[in-house]
Amino acid sequence: MIVASTTDFREAARRRLPRFLFDYIDGGAFAEVTLGRNVDDLADIALRQRVLRDVSQLDLSTTLFGQRLELPIALAPIGLAGLNARRGECQAVRAADRAGIPFTLSTVSACPLDEVARAASRPFWFQLYMIRDRAFMRELLAQARQAGCSALVFTVDMPVPGTRYRDYRTGLAGAPGMKGAIWRFAQAALRPGWAWDVGLTGRPHALGNVAPVLKGRTGIEDFFAWMRANFDPTISWRDLEFIRSEWKGPLIIKGLLDPEDAREAAALGADGIIVSNHGGRQLDGVLSTARALPLIVDAVGDRLTVLADGGVRSGLDVVRMLALGARSVLLGRAWAYALGAQGEAGVTKLLELMAAEIRVAMALTGVTSISEINETILARTM
Ligand code: FNR
Repeated sequence: MIVASTTDFREAARRRLPRFLFDYIDGGAFAEVTLGRNVDDLADIALRQRVLRDVSQLDLSTTLFGQRLELPIALAPIGLAGLNARRGECQAVRAADRAGIPFTLSTVSACPLDEVARAASRPFWFQLYMIRDRAFMRELLAQARQAGCSALVFTVDMPVPGTRYRDYRTGLAGAPGMKGAIWRFAQAALRPGWAWDVGLTGRPHALGNVAPVLKGRTGIEDFFAWMRANFDPTISWRDLEFIRSEWKGPLIIKGLLDPEDAREAAALGADGIIVSNHGGRQLDGVLSTARALPLIVDAVGDRLTVLADGGVRSGLDVVRMLALGARSVLLGRAWAYALGAQGEAGVTKLLELMAAEIRVAMALTGVTSISEINETILARTM
């Protein structure tokens, strides 16, 4: 199929990826209400149409944590993204580098930190979860430093995994042993392009960063078992002090939706936060990020850098999030779909299309630089 817009990648990924992988990306928690609200509430944000303001010169660049970005975008951490295309995180980091934006490597990526560092041509970000084994966390932080990561994204909205029914239906989670393997094999057999590109020639399929502690247990069910056993539900603000003292560079806390928590993060000395509900994959029914963001910007916007993700599918959505107060926006599913559809070329094309859409939105709201995008471009509807 011809991919002409940012949103076409979803359909292209659906056609290329085995069902268990597509549904893993596409799905959310429980009845997927928050997943839908993230997209719908953003689409509801109306912008002011302004005219006659000389929009011939547009500057889409911005600065984040001392780093220049060519677009107000970063790629969000996506676990298992390396399975969407051969050595997928390496392909994605190359596309992000070419576009001049940060890539964030998930703790539970397929490619390990050092492999991604070899593929990257500029510093990328590393995302960490709270893991019971603190010595292993220290080891991961040391590897991230070694890999030259320029920021640590510490995700706090997953003390326990959300309930994602699609993953049970497809046999990705909760179907251990031969039964799950046969079910997934049957789904992969229907997608020969992926089966060759990733299934057969994209090995190893291990969780790169976690492989040393999984000790040879590399099946997908081992991944979920490891997550259940090792993600630490005792996590509290005290643990954040541990992270803050271990990581001297920019620390960005990901997964805040409440102004009270955002104030705690500011008090702790975080450099940034990501307003996020994990793309509607954790507690179903919580606020969309479009709704939560302005409240959090009001609470802490003058004390730290507020970023946001959730439901961003186009350059127009990026502009909407910035207008609601985010300094930059993270893309989650958007890049995972593009990678699944067309690999590195897909992510590159996605980012080009995003840039083109941002340009049009800026020109038609009458702004010429990213710093001019704020609540003044929001339409008041009464
Ligand atoms: C995620 N997300 C995520 N977040 C994180 O901190 N670490 C991770 O490993 C993952 N893994 C992951 C896998 C998949 C398949 C998805 C869709 C999401 C959440 C992600 O970083 C981001 O917050 C959301 O994806 C943003 O919402 P949208 O853009 O996908 O709607």
